[in-house]
Amino acid sequence: MATHQAIVSLMEELQAIDWYRQRADDCDDVQLKEVLVHNMNDEMEHAAMLIEWLRRNVGEFAAQLDKFLGVDGSIA
Ligand SMILES: [Fe+2]
Repeated sequence: MATHQAIVSLMEELQAIDWYRQRADDCDDVQLKEVLVHNMNDEMEHAAMLIEWLRRNVGEFAAQLDKFLGVDGSIA
C-alpha cells in the first residue's frame, strides 16, 4: 500500500511540475513567472524525495536507479 501511495504521489508531483512549467512558459508577468518557476522547482524537490523513498523501499527501483543515474554515455 505504501508503494502505491508513493507512486501515485510521484505521478502527481510530476504532473504539477509540468503544469507549472506550462504556465510559466505562457506567463507574460515577470514576477508571476518567477513564482511559477519557483513553485515548479519545489515540486521537483518533492518528486526527488519520493524517488528516494522508492529507492530505499523497492528493490527493483534501487537496481534500476543504480544502473542509470549518474552514469555518463548513452542512456539507452
Ligand atoms: Fe508537491
